[in-house]
Amino acid sequence: MMTDQELISQAMEARRNCYAPYSKFPVAAALLGVSGKVYRGVNVENASYGLTICAERVAIGSAVAAGEKTFEKIAIVVKGGGSPCGACRQVLHEFAPGLQVLMADESGTLIREARLSELLPEAFGPHSL
Ligand code: THU
Repeated sequence: MMTDQELISQAMEARRNCYAPYSKFPVAAALLGVSGKVYRGVNVENASYGLTICAERVAIGSAVAAGEKTFEKIAIVVKGGGSPCGACRQVLHEFAPGLQVLMADESGTLIREARLSELLPEAFGPHSL
C-alpha cells in the first residue's frame, strides 16, 4: 500500500532529472499502477520549444511501454502545487478517467487533491468513439 506522501516523494526524486533549460520550470510526476509499480516522468524540453513533453505524459508513456494501463493515482510536483495542463488531462483520461490527482509544491507538500473527472468534465474518450 503506497501512501500519498510516498508517491509524492517519488515525484520529488524524479524532479532532479527534469530537463527544463528553457522554461526553468521543472515538473515531475509519479504514476501509481494497480500492480503497485510506480512510473516516473519529468518534463523534457527541446530547443524547438513546441516539442516539449510534459512530465505527466512521459510517466504515462513509460507505464504503457512497461505493459501497464490501469492506474490509481498520480502525484505531480510543480511550483506552488499547480494543476496539470489540458493536454495531459486528456492523455490521462484515456487510461484512467477516475484517477486521483495529487498536486504538491516544490517542497513536497500536498496542496490540492482532485479526481481527473473533476479536472476534465465531459471528456472525450474511448467511449465517445
Ligand atoms: N509542464 C508539465 O510538465 N506539465 C504540465 O502539466 C504543465 C507544464 C511543463 C512543460 C514545460 O516544460 C514547463 O512545464 C513550462 O510550461
